[in-house]
Amino acid sequence: MPEQSEAQQKFDLCEVTIERILPGGRGIAYADGRTVMVALAAPGDRLRVRFDRVKGSVAFASIVEILEPSPQRVEPPCPYFGRCGGCDFQQLDYQAQLDAKVEIIRDCLRRLGGIEDLPKFEITRAPNEWRYRARAQWQYDAVVKRLGYFEANSHRVCDVAECAVLTPELQSQLEWLRRGMANEQLPEDARYFRVIAGDEEVSVARGSSPTNRGPRAGSPRGVVDRGDAGARDVKRTIHGATYHLNAESFFQTNIDLLPQLIDAALSDAEGNSAIELYSGVGLFTVPLARQIGRTLAIEDDADATRFARQNLANAGLKNTQVVNADVGDWLDENLECAGNDGALDGGAIRGSKAASPLRSAAALQNIDFLLLDPPRTGVESRVISGIIKMKPRRISYVSCDPATLARDLKKLIAGGYSIQSIHAFDMFPQTHHVETVVQLSVH
Ligand SMILES: C[S@@+](CC[C@H](N)C(=O)[O-])C[C@H]1O[C@@H](n2cnc3c(N)ncnc32)[C@H](O)[C@@H]1O
Repeated sequence: MPEQSEAQQKFDLCEVTIERILPGGRGIAYADGRTVMVALAAPGDRLRVRFDRVKGSVAFASIVEILEPSPQRVEPPCPYFGRCGGCDFQQLDYQAQLDAKVEIIRDCLRRLGGIEDLPKFEITRAPNEWRYRARAQWQYDAVVKRLGYFEANSHRVCDVAECAVLTPELQSQLEWLRRGMANEQLPEDARYFRVIAGDEEVSVARGSSPTNRGPRAGSPRGVVDRGDAGARDVKRTIHGATYHLNAESFFQTNIDLLPQLIDAALSDAEGNSAIELYSGVGLFTVPLARQIGRTLAIEDDADATRFARQNLANAGLKNTQVVNADVGDWLDENLECAGNDGALDGGAIRGSKAASPLRSAAALQNIDFLLLDPPRTGVESRVISGIIKMKPRRISYVSCDPATLARDLKKLIAGGYSIQSIHAFDMFPQTHHVETVVQLSVH
């Protein structure tokens, strides 16, 4: 290929055939010695694409013309598709979405995790491919009066009147806020609204940070509800347990799949003692407390911790304590006295009351089951080291990002664990995102 500057390459058009979908959701193709990553593609598509960005031998491209559609390609039903940054899989039929997600997980575990002998695994379909999203964050631009999601790769707000993946309750909440926007009734400083649907009501929280990062990023936690009285607490019943929560705390997006996700995450939970890391409002903590003698849960969000305690108390469960702490700090503090042989300090567990369900730090040496469900960024190295030091007999890792999951599994395997089973759940139809549960046991 003749020498070209990156600026010239940017405007190149070329024809490619998509081989498969990669982690991150783009289709991969090869042309003129370059790897071409194409957004919104389907495996088998023959496309004319334009390079948007070139980095070394990799070009990031968008579709100019579909020369020959893949047999898996369907007409995306949403009028905002392609502009809105929310969904990136609507061009694929549902089976192709599921196949792509299994391939994404395999690819990450092999390439990033270095795991060759992967067990066979299934992906559980979503009961609803549309209208499943019970939690959302809508961006608001008060100047140009737009409410919706960020456009793809941008912080410009795509104004969305109807979103095909929202539950009906959240769609009507969006319409209610849009009427407020039209009537100039939304707070001037609002930048986004977080919403979560309970069994009967919707909780709304307002944020005034201009990015889509949540309260953890240090944005003010100003809240507005229909009556301007703060984010309303709502109830959600899942698998026979009732959870109190509100829009300020994390909760899973796809309620329909939660019973199966909980069953898979806790399928190996047995014995007398368990630790749960990143426990949120207690989605797994409540059923775990029913299965295991004594449990300690760690969560650093104060509101989520308060809800988890309330949810355990409402379920009449006294065998579990929820510690409000950063997981890394908490492990550092409680494992600091461990010797090279992994022997642990015998004092009381710090950050928990004296009558902790796991009564001493020494008990951390003898954990039967550890569940972790970290944010998308995965687990800090010091947390993995702490887990390996504790050596729980079984680990259940719940992940919403196959790439960080693979990175963390590699370290756990090097630390003496082996994978027993893998199960994927299609929690986020119409997007490349996927939830994975991996069960591990110590050699
Ligand atoms: C993916 S959510 C899982 C929550 C819960 N398992 C559920 O399914 O509802 C991750 C949780 O980890 C918490 N978190 C994030 N980073 C943390 C940290 N460094 N230490 C403790 N908790 C953290 C978040 O507040 C959030 O509640």
